Amino acid sequence: MSAFDLIVIGAGPGGYVCAIRASQLGLKVAIVEKRATFGGTCLNVGCIPSKAMLHASELYEEAGHHFAAMGIDVKPKLDLAKMLAFKDEGVKGNVDGVAFLLRKNKVDHFHGTGRIKAPGKVEVTFINGEKQDVDAKSIVIATGSAVAKLPGIDIDEEAIVSSTGALSLPRVPKRLLVIGAGVIGLELGSVWRRLGSQVTVVEFLDRVLPGTDGEVAKQLHRLLGKQGMTFKLGHKVTAVKKNGAAQSVTIEPSNGGDKETLEADVVLVAIGRVPFTDGLGLAEAGVKLDNRGRVIVDAHYQSSVPGIYAIGDVIDGPMLAHKAEDEGIAVAELLAGQAGHVNYNVIPNVVYTAPEVASVGKSEEELKAAGVAYKVGKFPFTANGRAKSNRATDGFVKVLADAATDRVLGVHIIGANASEMIAEGAVLMEFGGSAEDLARTCHAHPTLTEAVKEAALAVDKRAIHF
Ligand code: FAD
Ligand code: NAI
Repeated sequence: MSAFDLIVIGAGPGGYVCAIRASQLGLKVAIVEKRATFGGTCLNVGCIPSKAMLHASELYEEAGHHFAAMGIDVKPKLDLAKMLAFKDEGVKGNVDGVAFLLRKNKVDHFHGTGRIKAPGKVEVTFINGEKQDVDAKSIVIATGSAVAKLPGIDIDEEAIVSSTGALSLPRVPKRLLVIGAGVIGLELGSVWRRLGSQVTVVEFLDRVLPGTDGEVAKQLHRLLGKQGMTFKLGHKVTAVKKNGAAQSVTIEPSNGGDKETLEADVVLVAIGRVPFTDGLGLAEAGVKLDNRGRVIVDAHYQSSVPGIYAIGDVIDGPMLAHKAEDEGIAVAELLAGQAGHVNYNVIPNVVYTAPEVASVGKSEEELKAAGVAYKVGKFPFTANGRAKSNRATDGFVKVLADAATDRVLGVHIIGANASEMIAEGAVLMEFGGSAEDLARTCHAHPTLTEAVKEAALAVDKRAIHF
């Protein structure tokens, strides 16, 4: 007899949500986490602290540059130590919340490192070196991801940092060089630019935010440039050398060409993340990985070994907290005999820059590549009443609908509060809704969401306010 029905390895958004859902469904569940706190990358060193710093730094910039126009005369003074403490408090509130939820749902927890000895058997090594075997009918691997490294460039989390170090810099660097114009580079680059750094972003490709709708990415690139961020697109970093207190960064065009040296005080490496399976004993257990190190799973999240499942950043798909959570729920429901399922066509994606970028469904580039005939409805925030009165007119909403059926295939928003507005597109798409459905839904006035309705009207060339 196994002690548990399920043991989950890793207590990030995938793992802890899976454990709670499985327990709700009557399974006896344990979770193993090697970090001192629950919540994984997302709550400890990812989503939550980065959003706290983005929020605080955005208000700092607003107060310094935009309050005066509204008749508020203030001169903000940065207390970085306090801002970092504000961020840490947000993290603590969240990780403590997860500990509470696990207790409330009667999930047993082991603070230690898990290793799969065999199907149904996990060995936990505690911090003091002691070991314990835990038996369970099923094992879910939810060990997440780690920072991708650049060969020859050592991350010391002081002068050369990953996102983790960039969330806790004790001083505002005069010059910050960011490697990678992906989501981390643009979010954390924005934080430090707002706080006073000169930020240069070096990106291998000739565009920012690969994978995002091209028109949206182009607009964001232009707006971040206007805010003072410098971009070196189509360039790669080949070396970072210490030069006294500064760092000498050698870059060269991605397609070959002359080298150039840039000086920076801090270098942020943000070139992606890689699945994390170190020390899990997967090779010995016979669990197969793909050529990028991700655990291969079937449609029910089962690995190549029966009884061993995997979810979240450690498997294929976007590395997003809500995708990990939904997979956690799906696998728990499948283990309880229900029909767990994730709709991968409707996973929203948000970049929390100012303005924010949010999308769900297909981009124009993806639809073109798939040969799908589509209609475009676009509406700019310059023509939205609320955006005008708030002086937040940067950006637009774009709705992409199937040319034949009018079914919405993608919604792309660049603008203030895009992160909240995208949920409307996700709900519509989950129900297979059309642009006509969206256009006929009454939207409160004055709200930014009226731009979403107008973009849906524009699919049929009948926007009212533009
Ligand atoms: P993780 O959150 O990585 O959790 C895995 C856990 O497993 C970790 O706690 C780890 O300690 C533990 N673990 C690993 N191996 C073992 C072992 N052998 N034994 C015991 N425990 C183990 N996503 C969003 O959706 N929105 C955002 O705004 C966002 N912002 C981000 C900002 C940053 C700076 C970063 C780095 C990431 C961000 N992400 C964001 C991505 C998000 O954090 C991940 O997609 C998400 O955390 C993945 O969840 P997970 O449960 O798969 O893995
Ligand atoms: P990313 O994959 O978003 O971007 C990495 C960028 O680095 C790409 O543009 C890539 O072309 C570039 N690059 C790669 N190698 C390079 C090189 N040698 N020189 C210059 N540029 C190079 O990865 P990022 O930003 O590190 O984020 C990792 C993951 O974390 C993301 O995939 C995302 O899923 C998740 N995340 C999500 C957030 C959100 O949802 N708001 C916020 C932060 C992270």
